[in-house]
Amino acid sequence: MNEKATTADLRQAFEGIQVAPSLLSADFSKLDSAVGEVLAAGARVIHFDVMDGHFVPPITVGPVVLASIADQVHEAGGVVDVHLMVERPEAQFAEFARAGADSITFHLEATDHAHRAIEGIHELGCLAGVAINPGTPVDSIDAVASACDLILMMSVNPGWGGQKFIEGSPERIGAARALSGEALIEVDGGITAETAGPVVAAGATLLVAGSAVFGADDPARAYEEILAAALEASPAKNS
Ligand code: DX5
Ligand code: ZN
Repeated sequence: MNEKATTADLRQAFEGIQVAPSLLSADFSKLDSAVGEVLAAGARVIHFDVMDGHFVPPITVGPVVLASIADQVHEAGGVVDVHLMVERPEAQFAEFARAGADSITFHLEATDHAHRAIEGIHELGCLAGVAINPGTPVDSIDAVASACDLILMMSVNPGWGGQKFIEGSPERIGAARALSGEALIEVDGGITAETAGPVVAAGATLLVAGSAVFGADDPARAYEEILAAALEASPAKNS
């Protein structure tokens, strides 16, 4: 996807059952090879985690690092899915859009002005996502679902890769699906070849996987296994 991608092109790029490798678990000293490896395996949505040391304790990376990989992803026909785990997310949208973000997701818990935030992301030409933590009531997305493109359901508490998938997440995803309308359901945290099936069966289509991909001996193969498990559980296949 290049910078002139239309909203319809972007929507299409995020649709369907997909696994989005999260760079959080990649080797940052070899980021281009990590990105290249999952793109070569077929991944087209690359998940980019931003943490500010306030909304969540760790600090990760920002627009400078995003800009260093965005062209590589776009030239392969892929998109970059930016997940902002930051306070005052509105202050960051423009920089991330300029650095090459295709979607920008902020946490509902981090702003009092979700609709204005969604509008701000759309004005920058990106898809807009709203994320909720595992402890946030699912019906809190009801008021924003019709305005956004993605609803990101956290299946761990945000902040670190490699945590255990929280049981009960598929039920929350099912409840979110019932409220989400046209918005796609993304799930993030503890996704493996074992947990992929239940979240897809519940209605998620975009599955973020960090440690299960980049922590594996063979990331390309791990990506393929998670995708195969997800496709196996897809309602389209089982209808
Ligand atoms: C965690 C991040 C995730 C993280 C997931 O707060 O938002 O994207 O990379 O890591 P895994 O897949 O290892 O749970
Ligand atoms: Zn994430």
